[in-house]
Amino acid sequence: MSATPTTFSFGMIGLGTMGRNLLLNLADHDFAVAGYDKDASKVSLLAEEGAGKPVQGFSTLPEFVDSLHTPRSIMMLVPAGKIVDSVIEELRPLLAPGDIIIDGGNSHFTDTDRRAAALEAAGFHFFGMGVSGGEEGARFGPSMMPGGDKEAYQVVQPMFEAIAARVEGEPCVTYIGPGAAGHFVKMVHNGIEYGLMQLIAETYGLLKNGLGLDNAAIGQVFTQWNNGRLQSFLLDITKDIFAFQAPNTDHLLLDDIKDEARSKGTGKWTSQVAMDLELPVPTIDTAVALRDLSKYKVLREQLATLYGPAPTPLAVEHAAFLTSLEQAFFFNMVITYAQGMQLLAKASKEYSYGLQLAEIAKIWRGGCIIRSSFLNDIFNAFQQAPQLEHLLLDERVRDLVTQAVPGARTVVAAAVAAGLAVPAYATSLSYFDTLRTARMPSNLIQAQRDYFGAHTYELIGHEGVFHTQWTPAHEDAANKQDTQEGPENKSEQPVIPNK
Ligand code: 6PG
Repeated sequence: MSATPTTFSFGMIGLGTMGRNLLLNLADHDFAVAGYDKDASKVSLLAEEGAGKPVQGFSTLPEFVDSLHTPRSIMMLVPAGKIVDSVIEELRPLLAPGDIIIDGGNSHFTDTDRRAAALEAAGFHFFGMGVSGGEEGARFGPSMMPGGDKEAYQVVQPMFEAIAARVEGEPCVTYIGPGAAGHFVKMVHNGIEYGLMQLIAETYGLLKNGLGLDNAAIGQVFTQWNNGRLQSFLLDITKDIFAFQAPNTDHLLLDDIKDEARSKGTGKWTSQVAMDLELPVPTIDTAVALRDLSKYKVLREQLATLYGPAPTPLAVEHAAFLTSLEQAFFFNMVITYAQGMQLLAKASKEYSYGLQLAEIAKIWRGGCIIRSSFLNDIFNAFQQAPQLEHLLLDERVRDLVTQAVPGARTVVAAAVAAGLAVPAYATSLSYFDTLRTARMPSNLIQAQRDYFGAHTYELIGHEGVFHTQWTPAHEDAANKQDTQEGPENKSEQPVIPNK
């Protein structure tokens, strides 16, 4: 490679592993790129790893900014939250109108909206972009979800298309939609990621504590699954984890790792937003809750002693159970993706994102953490019916799910009987059973709400809302001695339903 160029077409702020690797990926595709980090050791690392490539690191911000072609394209890959705001504040006085700032971190979508408004008002271009794929993805092909300022995205589009992962020749990057659509979609990607990871963890628990398999046998199950219809990045790395020895020992590193799972917040945000939008994603909620529950180690140990012994091995024939487990895993995986996709559809309407769910499934097929063979089916379903309300309505998915449900029931029933915790498996199954219930028992909840709080109910076959005086007259009179009746109650016309 020729000498390092003196001006660069793209700049990166934050030379942690992700930022550095993304720059090296760009440099490998012959883009002249610059990086900035306050930490001189990270700048040195970039120089070392980028030797012979068109890449240069800087440890002062003005020098870095001056090294870039104008209008400048500068991406930030720094931890989400206040740091993003402080980097923008430091950067702003050094920029010229028309320069482009890209936030490639896992920012909350409402922060992205706020930052876009402020920067656009100041004459800058700004857009948020979800980047998935971890270190390896950043270095050799991530999946990217840019949203917001389309004009600005189009300036850097050729670069991102060049470095993205490719599936069937197509880059795993596409313009997602206006506003904070890119960060929103990345957040939901992570929610699905939490769901799938919880599912794999519960499967590990069943294989270990339920069937009593050793690590080698568990690794074999995951390997075998990953060679079939369950193929996914997460199963792929899981099978590797089941082959990784702790250094200088004869056992797996996994066995030395504490059972307390951490998180940075994107899964929780997915659940929070889903609740705000009244769009249930219970498998993802469960995954978030279980990470939190895992942190209560001392309490779990106390309760294990108090209520033990647990768990009991599964009273099942191994080969048949493993067949059911494969079905159950498939079923749960479908449900997890389905919840995420439905959340995207609802958010798209609510926030006018205009999301193309087929396109999103398409760019998730490569590079990202939730990539899997099944994303092809999701892609096909939404390509055929872009307005599909729920993945379970797709005919092919219906056939696959129908075949897998018996396995899901077998697994949940056996686990529950044995006292083995399978919260995500059980939640997904109940979610499915609820969704296929044409008449839920929720009429009783409405009756109760009206009974104790006069919250009214709606009647089958009648327009409007109704309230009933549920207590007999004498009890009502007794109650009235202690309560002041409001004027609105007096004017109500009780209706006694005859159904
Ligand atoms: C990705 C990942 C990435 C990050 C997770 C970790 O798509 O590459 O999702 O963004 O590793 O957000 O999240 P937790 O720390 O919350 O598990």
